[in-house]
Amino acid sequence: MCSVVFLDINGCHYKFPVVYGTFYEKAINISQLRENTGIMTFDPGLKNTGIAKSSISFIDGEKGELLYRGYPIEQIINKCSFIETSYLILNGELPNTAQLKCFSEKIKKFNHINKEIYQILDKVPDNYHPMGVLSFLTYVLTSFTNFIQEKDEDMYLHLLAKLPILASLIYRKKVGLPPSYADKNMDYTSNLLKMFFSKSNKSYQHNPIITDTLDKLLILHADHEQNCSTTTVRLLGSAHSGLFSSISAGISALWGKLHGGANQAVIEMLENIVISGGNIKKWIEKAKNKKDPFRLMGFGHRIYKNFDPRAKIAKKIAENLIQELRIVDPILELAKNLEEKALQDPYFVEKKLYPNIDFYSGIIYQAIGIPKDMFTVMFSLGRLPGWMAHWKEIKLNRDPIGRPRQIYIGYKKRNIIHK
Ligand code: SDX
Repeated sequence: MCSVVFLDINGCHYKFPVVYGTFYEKAINISQLRENTGIMTFDPGLKNTGIAKSSISFIDGEKGELLYRGYPIEQIINKCSFIETSYLILNGELPNTAQLKCFSEKIKKFNHINKEIYQILDKVPDNYHPMGVLSFLTYVLTSFTNFIQEKDEDMYLHLLAKLPILASLIYRKKVGLPPSYADKNMDYTSNLLKMFFSKSNKSYQHNPIITDTLDKLLILHADHEQNCSTTTVRLLGSAHSGLFSSISAGISALWGKLHGGANQAVIEMLENIVISGGNIKKWIEKAKNKKDPFRLMGFGHRIYKNFDPRAKIAKKIAENLIQELRIVDPILELAKNLEEKALQDPYFVEKKLYPNIDFYSGIIYQAIGIPKDMFTVMFSLGRLPGWMAHWKEIKLNRDPIGRPRQIYIGYKKRNIIHK
């Protein structure tokens, strides 16, 4: 394994150290590049740039593998709950029985919110998008939790407890239901569903199939290396912004249609295909047409150049749920058809465009009864442990504040004449 690389720049010979990861992925450490050579790198979208050393998750894009703290997602999804996975991602190890009990009990201790939040939500105009309100209310929580010091582990548990409450209130306001409160006798995901769907005039009927499905979907979203929203959270953490405001920014980043907002866009795309007569070939050709801004939503990924392992699991979860609930869902059949046709098309094969997590997740949310504009809110609930673990890690690693450079292409220096 080479430990240095050499660069010849303007006839000068420069040596740079090589950094190796656990799976021997390697990077040239260019932290002294500009100082030593006067030049810098240029990498729009950071496609080739490692911005941190991290031990939380690992993606092998070529093999289509995802590990959380070293454990393959396929094992976690079958052996762990979302709360166990959150513990693992935040603390680096799976909890033993006592640790899990303490973690879960502490989260329950925090599962209430200040009355002012209800009053603020009342004032929000009805035409809001849930992601905007979730980001805003997450920031507002800061005002009620200023007793928490940065080193206080409880702040992570606070957010794990409070984000589902905010999500349920945002949903219930949208559908005209009064707030529903957490039930301390329920586990995390059962509680989440109860807070969403309970009706004041009748007792809430818990459906274990739906709870297990949602728990698995939350696990699939829990972390994913330096994706756009996680890098956003890290950047704020590097400036020593607070945890809640950093997560609030991560929620806003995830909202983007090319990122977490894709799950809503996938269902809208599939519905449009149905409305326009179901001609899959026409839509695939549209996605390939460079003059057309349309893309096949839920397809392609910056890192996966093979199947997104999460999409494979989500597809199976969707099929099981639809079967168990005895739902006839033309959208699922259309999605499977579209996947099959796209993966036979040379354009998608050559560009290695496979379904990603967002291609099937919306179908599952819809079958559970969650409306489209809440899909990315559910993604946020799943990604929360990952965002918080990265915020925590950047502090532990004492990373410097993130401040990239640029290539300036504006005006040369000039004087104001006409004033
Ligand atoms: C998520 O980073 C993460 O890990 C994100 C995520 C997570 O867990 O945090 O996995 C969650 O955001 C998943 C992605 C959800 N987004 C979508 O499904 C939107 C549709 N997909 C794309 O817009 C796109 O594939 C991205 C944004 C996901 C990735 O874009 P890249 O890596 O910047 O790739 P690119 O845009 O440079 O595309 C490379 C080529 C281009 O063609 P050429 O210019 O080379 O001819 O592939 C084409 C693109 O036009 N292409 C597509 C396409 N995706 C890429 N063509 C048609 N349909 C698509 N979906």
